[in-house]
Amino acid sequence: MASDTWSLVDAYVSERLLASADPIFHEILEANATAGLPAIDVSPAQGKLLSLLIRVRGAARVLEIGTLGGYSTVWMAGALPSDGRLISLELSPEHAAVAKANVARAGLAERVEIRVGPALDTLAILEREKAGPFDFVFIDADKVNNARYVEWALKLSRPGSVIVLDNVVRDGNILDEASEDPNVIGTRAAYEWIRQTPALDATAIQTVGAKGYDGFLLALVR
Ligand code: SAH
Ligand code: DHB
Ligand code: MG
Repeated sequence: MASDTWSLVDAYVSERLLASADPIFHEILEANATAGLPAIDVSPAQGKLLSLLIRVRGAARVLEIGTLGGYSTVWMAGALPSDGRLISLELSPEHAAVAKANVARAGLAERVEIRVGPALDTLAILEREKAGPFDFVFIDADKVNNARYVEWALKLSRPGSVIVLDNVVRDGNILDEASEDPNVIGTRAAYEWIRQTPALDATAIQTVGAKGYDGFLLALVR
C-alpha cells in the first residue's frame, strides 16, 4: 500500500479526532522548521496517543529522553495535572533552546524542565538527585543507546509505571540481525534486554502514517 495513503488516513484521523487540538502544535512545527530542525517529531496522532496514555495512567511525573523541538513534550506536558512535572533530556543546546521557546509559547514552562547534555550522563544525575520515580517515560533519542535507556527508565520507575519506546520497527529494518546500523543494533538490544527482564511486561505495535512505517514499544513495570 502506498505511503501517501498512510498520510491521507493520518490526516483523516487528525481532522476528526484531533480537530480540537490546540493550534500551538502547528505553530511548534513551523518554529521547528524555521530553526532548521529535522522533522522527526512524533506525528499528531502519536502525540495524542502519548497524551491519552498519560491520562489513562494518571501520570503526574513524566521523563522524556530526546526533546528535539519539544513537540512530543508539549503533547505530554499538556496531559498532566496542574501540579504535574515533566523532565526532558536533550543533547543539543540548539534543539533545547527551540524546545524551551515552544514550551513557553504553549504556557507549560512551569511544568517542564529541559536538561541539556548526553542523556546517559543526565540520567545518572537524576538518580543522584532522587528525581524519580517517574510514572511515564518516553524514550525517543539516539537509538544506539536504547537498551541502556530502557534500563534507566526501569531504574527510575516504580510498579505501574509505563515506558514507551519510539521507532522500534524502522521500515522492518529491525529484522536484520546482521545489520551494522548502530540504530538497528541498539533497538534490537533493547528488545533483548526487555525480553530478559521479568520486571517489564511489554508489546510492540507496528504503525504506518505520516511518519512512514515504524512502531511503538509499550512496557508496563510490574
Ligand atoms: N521526541 C521528539 C523527537 C526527538 S528526535 C518529538 O517527538 O518531538 C531525537 C532527539 O534526541 C534529537 O533532538 C537529538 O538531538 C536527541 N539526542 C540524540 N542523542 C542524544 C543523547 N545522547 N542524549 C540526549 N538527547 C539526544
Ligand atoms: C529518526 C529519529 C527519530 O526519533 C524518529 O522518530 C524518526 C527518525 C532519525 O534519526 O532518523
Ligand atoms: Mg522518534
